[in-house]
Amino acid sequence: MPEYRKVCKVDEVPLGEARMYVVDGLMLGIFHTVDGYFALDNRCPHAGASLAGGFLEENTIRCRIHHWRFCVRDGTYLDEDKPRFNARAFPVRVVGDDVLVEF
Ligand code: FES
Repeated sequence: MPEYRKVCKVDEVPLGEARMYVVDGLMLGIFHTVDGYFALDNRCPHAGASLAGGFLEENTIRCRIHHWRFCVRDGTYLDEDKPRFNARAFPVRVVGDDVLVEF
């Protein structure tokens, strides 16, 4: 049964930035955009670089290694129509000052 778990406080991830957290051994990238907070599996689907260490522009994260781009809202790989390269996205809720992610 899916459950929401607290990952961080809202003020730990400033607007326009991203942070990486480990929850139960899973590396999560938390992205804060003008549309809210979003969570992706932090491993780039190309070769495993940290997506949270990439370049965030609006709702797009660009991997810092080979510059593949992904939508932080749903993990879609944006450079080609190849869904097998989509990043895994997780639902996020903000409750009070906490960012919760559904596992
Ligand atoms: S490791 Fe991310 S684009 Fe290559």
